[in-house]
Amino acid sequence: MPYYRVVGEVPRKRHVQFRRPDGGLYAEELMGEEGFSSDSSLLYHRHLPTAIVKAEAVTPSVETTLRPNLPLSPRHFRTQELASAGDLVTGRMVLAGNADVRLSYATSDQPSELYRNSMGDECVYVQRGRVRFESTYGVIEAGEGDYVIVPTGTIHRWVPDGQVNVLAIEASGHIRPPKRYLSQYGQFLEHAPYCERDLRAPTEPYIVSGEEVPVLVRTRGGLSRLVYRHHPFDVVGWDGCLYPYAFNINDFEPIVKKTHAPPPVHQTFEGPGFVVCSFCPRPLDYHPEAVPIPYNHHNVDSDEFMFYVGGDYSARAGSGIDVGSISLHPAGFTHGPQPGAVEAVIDAVARGVTATSEMAVMVDTFRPLDLGQGALSCEDPNYAWTWAR
Ligand SMILES: [Fe+2]
Repeated sequence: MPYYRVVGEVPRKRHVQFRRPDGGLYAEELMGEEGFSSDSSLLYHRHLPTAIVKAEAVTPSVETTLRPNLPLSPRHFRTQELASAGDLVTGRMVLAGNADVRLSYATSDQPSELYRNSMGDECVYVQRGRVRFESTYGVIEAGEGDYVIVPTGTIHRWVPDGQVNVLAIEASGHIRPPKRYLSQYGQFLEHAPYCERDLRAPTEPYIVSGEEVPVLVRTRGGLSRLVYRHHPFDVVGWDGCLYPYAFNINDFEPIVKKTHAPPPVHQTFEGPGFVVCSFCPRPLDYHPEAVPIPYNHHNVDSDEFMFYVGGDYSARAGSGIDVGSISLHPAGFTHGPQPGAVEAVIDAVARGVTATSEMAVMVDTFRPLDLGQGALSCEDPNYAWTWAR
């Protein structure tokens, strides 16, 4: 996380005695990345964060195996057709993945159990609905268009207010703002398309009483359930630069060029082996002869996973893609606007259209994406041939 924050009560100095009202000591816990060499926070617990009374292995309730994208094809998945498969953690239907990242879709109106992903950070994009993110750091109220960044190892749960649809981006490491947006010491620079004021983090402690509390833990070895002696939401205060936060896609400030700008101008986050980009409503490219949609392109080093979340996506007109659709344009395949789309947008500009309403979340991966059962169960088999009509 880029900047320092303090929530609740913390002692004047780190690593000194900090006492509860009854005279006992609070238990200090460091959550830190990359050993002791990167961002961290110090949390003060009422109870020992180490006290567990039971551990058991857990079998995933959804199919998590992946298969290669063979025969190589551009793909269209219709998440609109996916029903709920559980809560927002255990009901994640795997769409695609590789050794760096796993992309899943979930729909639920049920609270999840407590969960800790110890494999990497998560970026959970809320496509629709309202959901309360509760964690050891406190609460974030999230809604449509929010990216919620959950640092590795954060114990949390999702409590929907009605039905919620999310895209879960599960990394194998840390998800951060692009380095080029930050100063040498981590402040967002003026050219960045968002800054600290746009990030929402917990503002007060969140304490829940309870004993013998199960926590689902995801590690490279698989899923486990650890039962904690006391409820892990017992933190009276914390400070540091590592914590969950939310960023809303509507707070992204798009960068526009005279002629068409490539997707890196839309970059929002980066993780090991992938980037996340936000395509937001914006003025169209304004050269008098501009072609204001993408040119055909072959990104030889990436697979492009695009989730269409709102507006009208003119480059894909006639392809069957709609809000809720996901396209996967893999390395090895040249992609571009559907036939007639370039002519249609030039006509629209001639009629006075000056802006695009498109909204999409893109994940570009630098290793090929394999396909999950969730994606295969909602695939439009005709998409690959839509450029040849
Ligand atoms: Fe593309």
